[in-house]
Amino acid sequence: MSDFETFQEQLKRCRRENNKGYSLPFVSYWEDSIFKQELFSIFNKQWVGLGRSDRLLETGEYEAFELYGKALFLIRDKENALRLFANTCRHRGAKLLENSGQCQAISCPFHGWTYALNGNLIAAKFIDDESDFDICDYPLHEYRLEQYCGFLFAHFGNNPLKLVNQLGDFKDLHQPWNFKDLVTTRRRTFEVGCNWKAFLDVFNEYYHLNSVHPSSIGNLYLDPETADITAGCYASQFGRTSGTGALLESQQVNALPEMVGLGESWRQGTRYSWIFPNMTFAAGQEALWIYEANPIDAQRCQVRQSICFPRSTTLLNDFPEKSQAYYQRLDDAMAEDVVALENQQQGLKNSPPFQGRFCPLMEANVSSFSLWYADQMLMC
Ligand code: FES
Ligand SMILES: [Fe+2]
Repeated sequence: MSDFETFQEQLKRCRRENNKGYSLPFVSYWEDSIFKQELFSIFNKQWVGLGRSDRLLETGEYEAFELYGKALFLIRDKENALRLFANTCRHRGAKLLENSGQCQAISCPFHGWTYALNGNLIAAKFIDDESDFDICDYPLHEYRLEQYCGFLFAHFGNNPLKLVNQLGDFKDLHQPWNFKDLVTTRRRTFEVGCNWKAFLDVFNEYYHLNSVHPSSIGNLYLDPETADITAGCYASQFGRTSGTGALLESQQVNALPEMVGLGESWRQGTRYSWIFPNMTFAAGQEALWIYEANPIDAQRCQVRQSICFPRSTTLLNDFPEKSQAYYQRLDDAMAEDVVALENQQQGLKNSPPFQGRFCPLMEANVSSFSLWYADQMLMC
């Protein structure tokens, strides 16, 4: 059997009706040709998560970034709509914006072509009075962008499924956390030397907690409940915690107020959800923390982390001080995860054509993702 046939057979095993929880083929975590197929079969065909919409609130506020090899920027226009554009000048292709900031109009650093916040070209010196040049013919290229429950989603392909259909019953399941009321208080970006799926896997499983986080957060998490049966391209599993999962074991004294309206049971723990393919979050009693993981290549990913609190919490006098303990918990646990992930990637690289097995309760979301991934990769 060729390597390709082995890969296909292993994916089919993930899809079997009586799936016993086979992992994705190891080769999907390091092989370049599979990464290229993912770009085509997944990232060009699905809505992908871009974090929270509240981080750009003012007219003209923008954020430039790279995704799947494309230079892009988000910007809030004069009608208060967020837009996603190719960060590419229509004159000769220069990159228009860097990092983040605020502007009245988008002016190209190369020869000065200038665009309105809605992407229309409004000035092109010396050329705009040429008889065969119509300024209306050169707007920026805009990509589809939608908001749902305060999250942003982009689509880079043709004929997308409606976002609301892709997400199915996501809104109902997460309704107790009142996402729309949340404010992003910190966002940071970093690179990890592992496949993008491995990053999202580890965030969604309980199996590693005691060995990777023995003294930071490992003892906070009790065994999770059976995962929810979801209708939509996402997985979700709730688990009780002793104290809050959003603080280190040693820092529980800094707990901020619980979210208003959470029922008795949801107040007892954290819901871990994974919106396929690239965005995942933990909805705790008092905070929401989110990761987007996107491939740079087969063995490296770029990660964006956000943390949000209810607006009323951010107004408390002790919020500036106590929120630092939350940021520290995220950073400390992440540092431990990164060591484990980069070690895992070393083992995966050029590995034999293996396929592992999941622990059904402790790796439930990862198992759901594997089934979904196999469907996407076998459909093309
Ligand atoms: S490349 Fe932008 S104005 Fe020339
Ligand atoms: Fe972890």
